[in-house]
Amino acid sequence: MKVIIVKNYEELCQKGFEIMSELITKKPDCTLGLATGGTPVGLYKKMVEANKAGKLDFSKVSSYNLDEYVGIDYNHPESYHKFMRRNLFDHVNIDLAKTHVPDGGAKDSKKAIDEYNEMLSKATIDMQLLGIGSDGHIGFDEPGTPFDSVTHIVDLEESTIKDNARFFDNDLNKVPRKAMTMGLKNIMDAKSVLLLASGANKIDAIYNTVRGDISTDCPASILQNHPNCTIIVDEAAAAKLQ
Ligand code: F6R
Repeated sequence: MKVIIVKNYEELCQKGFEIMSELITKKPDCTLGLATGGTPVGLYKKMVEANKAGKLDFSKVSSYNLDEYVGIDYNHPESYHKFMRRNLFDHVNIDLAKTHVPDGGAKDSKKAIDEYNEMLSKATIDMQLLGIGSDGHIGFDEPGTPFDSVTHIVDLEESTIKDNARFFDNDLNKVPRKAMTMGLKNIMDAKSVLLLASGANKIDAIYNTVRGDISTDCPASILQNHPNCTIIVDEAAAAKLQ
């Protein structure tokens, strides 16, 4: 596990952008694992700028997103489908047919999960981008999720519901209670992992991920076993590491 500590969110996004764009440039038909949430927004903005400047080509890139809420409409502005369109897909030359987000709105969620796992088992994710929850979750694999899990439905932890209320008018009642998420095995199957963490509310999660025991109490700690994992942390989130 390689840990890079940067000064602030701007530097975090710049470093993350450099690593991801290097892969896309070297391997134009690469497969990316993508994340949502607040953390990757600045990185996606840099990707859009580079694409618009003709410096980064997404035409052959494929992508698989980590997760999606269950129980809100596909067209809800905070659905992760919409998030990806708004922050990246609608502004770069990616082929939408090559992008994949779990179908949280599916009537038959068991079928949707099986199909996503089937697709993932045939794909090789070259780089999986991750954020991290204040409770150490990656994807929506909350504490207690088995390390051998694949795509499944989860009940979100109260801490995650509180953390995400900022996207739902700060109204806890509006935050979905369930999500569909890749499992920890799916994440570990990626050839490389790039985790970004910013801000003081990630201090404990980052400490437990990097220095803690490998334990399902902190799902991200499994990344210590990944052969090619880079963690970029700003000084605020790295406070306990230094
Ligand atoms: C989102 C995801 C989550 C977030 C995590 C951090 O696709 O998988 O694990 O990365 O909840 O969210 P932010 O970046 O909003 O702090």
